[in-house]
Amino acid sequence: MSNYHIKHLEEYYQVYRKSVRNPENFWEEIAEEHFVWRKKWDTVLEWNFSKPEIKWFKGAKLNITENCIDRHLLTKGDKTAILFEPNNPDEPAKHITYKELHQQVNKFANVLKSQGIKKGDRVCIYLPMIPELTFSVLACARIGAIHSVVFAGFSATALATRINDSECKMIITSDGSYRGTKTIDLKSIVDEALENTPCIETALVVKRTNSEISMKKGRDKWLQPLIDEASNSCEPEIMNAEDPLFILYTSGSTGMPKGMLHTTAGYMVYTAYTFKNVFQYRDNDVYWCTADIGWITGHSYIVYGPLANGATTVMFEGVPSYPDFGRFWEIVEKHKITQFYTAPTAIRALAKEKLDYVDKYDLSSLKVLGTVGEPINEEAWHWYNDNIGKKKSPIVDTWWQTETGGIMITPIPFATPTKPTYATLPFPGIQPALMDENGEEIKGNQVDGKLCIKFPWPAIARTIWGNHQRYKETYFSAFENCYFTGDGALRDEVGYYRITGRVDDVIIVSGHNLGTAPIEDAINEHPAVAESAIVGFPHNIKGNALYGYVILKETGESRNQNNLRKEINQIITEHIGPIAKLDKIQFTKGLPKTRSGKIMRRILRKIAAKDTSNLGDTSTLLNPEIVEDIIKNVL
Ligand code: PRX
Repeated sequence: MSNYHIKHLEEYYQVYRKSVRNPENFWEEIAEEHFVWRKKWDTVLEWNFSKPEIKWFKGAKLNITENCIDRHLLTKGDKTAILFEPNNPDEPAKHITYKELHQQVNKFANVLKSQGIKKGDRVCIYLPMIPELTFSVLACARIGAIHSVVFAGFSATALATRINDSECKMIITSDGSYRGTKTIDLKSIVDEALENTPCIETALVVKRTNSEISMKKGRDKWLQPLIDEASNSCEPEIMNAEDPLFILYTSGSTGMPKGMLHTTAGYMVYTAYTFKNVFQYRDNDVYWCTADIGWITGHSYIVYGPLANGATTVMFEGVPSYPDFGRFWEIVEKHKITQFYTAPTAIRALAKEKLDYVDKYDLSSLKVLGTVGEPINEEAWHWYNDNIGKKKSPIVDTWWQTETGGIMITPIPFATPTKPTYATLPFPGIQPALMDENGEEIKGNQVDGKLCIKFPWPAIARTIWGNHQRYKETYFSAFENCYFTGDGALRDEVGYYRITGRVDDVIIVSGHNLGTAPIEDAINEHPAVAESAIVGFPHNIKGNALYGYVILKETGESRNQNNLRKEINQIITEHIGPIAKLDKIQFTKGLPKTRSGKIMRRILRKIAAKDTSNLGDTSTLLNPEIVEDIIKNVL
């Protein structure tokens, strides 16, 4: 029991040392004491980072939904598992108990089976933040189907790409979704996507907005009548520890989005253990993570981590600005939220509004505040600390990734002294390293380098769906025997880590990962565009925004530039989604290139950031004269 709940700094260091000295013992103890297994493992860990191959708890058998639901029924059956807060504040919140969750998930699981879904089949879930999203995720896990949740803000093209990549047999969606004052016609996005997805046999449709939609005969089915008929008992499929649990797509610096594959036992153990400690969850707490389940934060810290701990987890359907900018704080007061976990971009957006929106509400229930998704700047950190936490709730700045499955570098509240902009110390079991340009580890403190992890942890993604070679190249080839994160970091004088940002061509906009290549590919489809390059530039709400440099074909040069800008953003919206729209588009005659034809993004980044004092040596470029021209016309 001793390791499971860390309460002070000394204890953190003890636990951490133990986790590094003997990782297998460490994780075995946690796995034994805190979960239900149908069969225990034969080995705790088998790994090889050069193949790469990672297996945790091999030989064990379990079902994650037994751990997240069934085992709580006896002691917590009437406790709220999911607290659903609708978009419209006048619509009543729903308290779904563990007993009700059990019934709903079983019914849903039986519906999946009745529609021919079996263990190992892939099911795409494209839903707004409504309870059926959590039910469907858990229903897949109940029967061993692999869920692939796609954020319901992605476009039809992006959805189709993801469905086809993992050959999903079914999609679960809704007639529509609410976002603030808007009603979004989700089903027609799905209809468009399904024109190009031969693998989909069935679309299950949840009724949410009562919008008029078209239902394709033989393919589309309303969920509710099927649920009404289904039995509320469904024996869980007994899974092997390393059986796939889900696929979740994330952007890479080039090419297709990567379908990160997470498996069952290790993911469960790690998300549960991190949730307990990073949020210091106690039995009567009401925990709220504002992320969407379409991202890894929602998978690990709205669904699996909290439910594995028998927690009450809030699902919020709406947006922070509706009906006004006080909505988050109104919800905190209304449900007496104890842990609140959000993104720096949301904090910055709310911090620019009047403080009255905060001061109207009683926030005294809050005990722990969290942030995730991007570096938090000092000003936002202080605003959060002063106005939301009233200087008494510690802020956990949690660094992690879709690929890591769970939180990796973070303070433990009430144990680790926090420091603005620092994610601070590695979580037990995590062995970070900073690497230099030559691939050597940089030892000691007050240093910076590329952030790697030297030893496996239970929730690391095991592969990229259908492309193990790409998994190897992306994460295990830059540095020998290390997982490379793609981030830069520095380590201060006491060993605290500060994440400095991506060192590749991934740009984090409002906490969302965007690869430059897919956006450039979309733009280049415009008939007037010859070539383009995208870079990030600092933005005071989004963290980074996108800046596009676009070369027009001769035919496009006479066109109205503002119209072209609109059309380019329209194409991006269609191919990826509105989150990838460009804030600025500069038309240019050329792009700075090396003699081998590679675009020098470093120079473009500096120009977009209006930081041209030190562009380095540009004389070796193929076309040095273009740099001055671009600077002259910068937006
Ligand atoms: O650059 C880091 C940044 O977000 C990236 C991972 O994005 P994604 O896979 O979408 O997962 C986001 C939610 C876990 C990282 O490579 N990032 C995430 N958290 C932080 C962060 N950067 C700085 N500080 C953080 N706390």
